[in-house]
Amino acid sequence: MTAKANIAVIGTGGTIAGQGEAAVNTSAYACSVLGIDAILDTIPQARALANLRAEQLLQIGSENFDNTHLLAIGRRLSSLLAQDDVDGAVVTHGTDTIEETAYFLHLTLKSAKPVVVVGSMRPPSALSSDAALNLYDAIAVAAHPSSRGLGTLVVANDEIHTARDVVKSNSFKLEAFRSPYGMLGYVIEGQPRYYRSPARAHTLATPWSIDTLSTLPKVDIVYAYGALDRGAVEAIAAGAQGLIYAGTGNGNIAGHLLEPLRDAARRGVRVVRATRTGNGIVLRNGAQPDDEYGWLTVDDQIPPKARILLALALTQSSDARVLQAIFERY
Ligand code: DGL
Repeated sequence: MTAKANIAVIGTGGTIAGQGEAAVNTSAYACSVLGIDAILDTIPQARALANLRAEQLLQIGSENFDNTHLLAIGRRLSSLLAQDDVDGAVVTHGTDTIEETAYFLHLTLKSAKPVVVVGSMRPPSALSSDAALNLYDAIAVAAHPSSRGLGTLVVANDEIHTARDVVKSNSFKLEAFRSPYGMLGYVIEGQPRYYRSPARAHTLATPWSIDTLSTLPKVDIVYAYGALDRGAVEAIAAGAQGLIYAGTGNGNIAGHLLEPLRDAARRGVRVVRATRTGNGIVLRNGAQPDDEYGWLTVDDQIPPKARILLALALTQSSDARVLQAIFERY
């Protein structure tokens, strides 16, 4: 018989730590109230999967997370994963921004040990809550040797997703998490089954280490619509080192906004064209002459993930060619 894995479980809040007044409250409830020990007490079965060591790092809804929260979660994970008696980790997290935290960890943790970020769409108190099974599945995935070397994973609704691709794509359904190229695998009765692995570089193969990051450059996002006004774009660009422009279609930009965005690039703000469509590649020099205007494009990163990637990229370089290559590699 092989020894059980030792898994660290870090609580940060969210619906998985939520509590409703009645079982019918699947969408209206208080978030981030149950401690991590209380949540784990709902799944005594998980102790058969792994030796668990739980700690409460944060107790807040993930819509409040700024860069300092990402750095704090990453640092704590890094120090746990460095310990010989920790084989993997699970982070309980609100679902609203789970894809951003997970992508940040995927790019900055320097370990092959499995890290699983997990949340739930319904609090433990609700009818047909997904909290207990999602957490049980997350522990099963983190404890399994086949999860090593895959980077940060997000587990929900019987599925295992890579942090790079997963997106919360529904506001209330249990089936909220999608990856545009498909999940990596399923979890069934405490057993992960993988069918593919992440193609893009992560964890040990990136230039970023959480252990040497103390702050992140300010990168903001502008969401495009026809009546978006020049003043709003100028105000956001004024305070940022990087700007993700969530353009229409293939990263397109209304004519009256070209000049403020060109001006931002001339002042050294790194302007990156993305798409508000939620899917697909933004083609460099396609809808706009990026070479001429000094702009960059995402590959397929959605705007919130592009924000994370550009912030990390700007800690390495401000050279446009280097930054563009980063969007195509991670
Ligand atoms: N307040 C939201 C958050 O923590 C709750 C959403 C959720 O966890 O499903 O992200």
